[in-house]
Amino acid sequence: MPILFRETKEFCDYRAIISELESELGPAFVPSIESWCGLRKRKYPIYNWHVYLALLDTEKEIIGICSHYEQPRGRYWIGWIGTVKRFRRKGYGTRMLDLVVDKARSFGFGEVYVHTDSSSAIDFYKANQFEIIGKYAFDDPQNSITDGSVVLRRCL
Ligand SMILES: CC(C)(COP(=O)(O)OP(=O)(O)OC[C@H]1O[C@@H](n2cnc3c(N)ncnc32)[C@H](O)[C@@H]1OP(=O)(O)O)[C@@H](O)C(=O)NCCC(=O)NCCS
Repeated sequence: MPILFRETKEFCDYRAIISELESELGPAFVPSIESWCGLRKRKYPIYNWHVYLALLDTEKEIIGICSHYEQPRGRYWIGWIGTVKRFRRKGYGTRMLDLVVDKARSFGFGEVYVHTDSSSAIDFYKANQFEIIGKYAFDDPQNSITDGSVVLRRCL
């Protein structure tokens, strides 16, 4: 099914999907999602935030959210990718990832990084040509990063 992406920095546009994900992942995840999607102030400088809603082309129904940004060190990161539960395992997460990877290429980056502590997300990234390169080391302490967090990298 065709999907379209809508980029916006208006927090109200994301309210519906964040509350949908909150009902699944719990309220503790909300500040983390908002932060990694660039919708909340961060302590450390990060550049070129882009955050997108993924919508079903026909129904304009929100199926996911994804974001990417650049670190001061010049690394290109996925901020967050989330697919609404009922739309999972249909390839939409991969479509969002493709968008981020295409953006990274168009900006001239040769690698994309992501960190996560979720085993299913690790499986998702591994299925999409990412490999684990180590533990997460650089972060805003305001975010909840657990010991299980790993960094994955995809070479473009
Ligand atoms: C991780 C996530 C974004 C994947 O989205 P999705 O739309 O289901 O992904 P896709 O359908 O494109 O999956 C592609 C492949 O990734 C792998 N994969 C995806 N979800 C998986 C899971 N839960 N367990 C194991 N492998 C998984 C599979 O190989 C899958 O291919 P298949 O369905 O043909 O077996 C989604 O599960 C999610 O939103 N999780 C909660 C939020 C989260 O953890 N986000 C990551 C933060 S960085």
